[in-house]
Amino acid sequence: MKILVSGGAGYIGSHTCVALLEAGYEVVVADNLVNSSRESLRRVEQLTGKQIPFVQADLCDRAAVEALFDQYPDIGAVIHFAALKAVGESVRKPLEYYTNNLTNTLTLLNVMRSHGVRNFVFSSSATVYGDPETVPIREDAPCSATNPYGCTKLFLERILTDCCAADPTLNVALLRYFNPIGAHPSGLIGEDPNGIPNNLVPYIAKVAAGELECLHVFGGDWPTHDGTGVRDYIHVMDLAEGHVAALKKLAENCGLFVCNLGTGKGYSVLDVLHAYEAACGHPIPYVMDPRRPGDVAACWADPSKAREELGWTARYGIEEMCATSWKWQSRNPNGYGEK
Ligand code: NAD
Ligand code: WQD
Repeated sequence: MKILVSGGAGYIGSHTCVALLEAGYEVVVADNLVNSSRESLRRVEQLTGKQIPFVQADLCDRAAVEALFDQYPDIGAVIHFAALKAVGESVRKPLEYYTNNLTNTLTLLNVMRSHGVRNFVFSSSATVYGDPETVPIREDAPCSATNPYGCTKLFLERILTDCCAADPTLNVALLRYFNPIGAHPSGLIGEDPNGIPNNLVPYIAKVAAGELECLHVFGGDWPTHDGTGVRDYIHVMDLAEGHVAALKKLAENCGLFVCNLGTGKGYSVLDVLHAYEAACGHPIPYVMDPRRPGDVAACWADPSKAREELGWTARYGIEEMCATSWKWQSRNPNGYGEK
């Protein structure tokens, strides 16, 4: 079966292409390269020895999406990664985030319907749990959003839920990712953020490489074991495998399926810093700063639904997450080069 991977040139999408090709699926990638480069897919081709058809298109463009489905009539499922994802930027540019993330998804869903494609995997996020009342977080925990990016995920979850309620032939997996980090063990593909990274591990990687001076730890006074924020970091290849498992679930005509993809373990900022020091072999300087607005103390998944219903569990530990991140960073100090 052919899978359309929207946003497949990006961080999670490129790793998922590897997992899909290795599982025997054919893929076609559509991406406008707004936050990625064509080079990631060349590396995926190098890694897997398989060709990836690529269409450079903005998925908000209905005519372009129609043409894509006409060109590949054997698409059987869509994995929809394409989105803008920077929380801080979404606060400064809400209209861009709502327009891009909602319009591209609605366009895809409309064109899928007119072409009879019934299977859709959606990249949701643990951000939909807002400030969780308790951890670990189960899928039936209350949802809320604290920023426009999170709202786009929440709104799209709602839209997809309504679509499934109205149409029993539609199968949708809402996959709520926790904090994806790490890189493919080959060191050929990885995360290549623009400018100064917002997220913890890409930032640590640049400090470890000597490109940034020191890590700023956002708050040492959280109610956690060492006072720094705790998150459920998940290796990006485990996350990628979660998508392969979700496709199999959709093939059972499951209708709406909502699932956390996390490890069930929480690590603090300092835990991650120390794991990264072990991976790179030298100390990483840091300073304590005030809390970052909008952050929460602790967030980690109850991953039992994924284990029971997808037969999926995360395999990589924090050591491998940091080691693969460092391998990617040290071998590709400029990422994929020019974007
Ligand atoms: P990414 O920015 O690396 O990948 C997203 C890709 O989508 C990019 O290649 C970008 O060029 C493309 N894109 C964006 N808008 C597009 C459009 N209108 N048309 C075509 N292509 C478009 O991000 P990622 O980290 O790989 O995230 C993938 C998905 O997972 C996103 O939906 C994101 O919101 C979600 N997610 C990410 C994280 C995380 O921490 N990385 C956590 C939870 C959820
Ligand atoms: C992790 C921890 C920070 C940077 C974000 C999005 C979420 C999801 C994943 C998409 C926190 C601390 C960070 C730094 C630090 N994305 N930190 N210094 O905030 O859990 O989640 O990415 O859906 O929606 O909000 O991830 O990596 O930014 O932060 O101390 O320079 O590291 O305070 O405790 P977060 P993160």
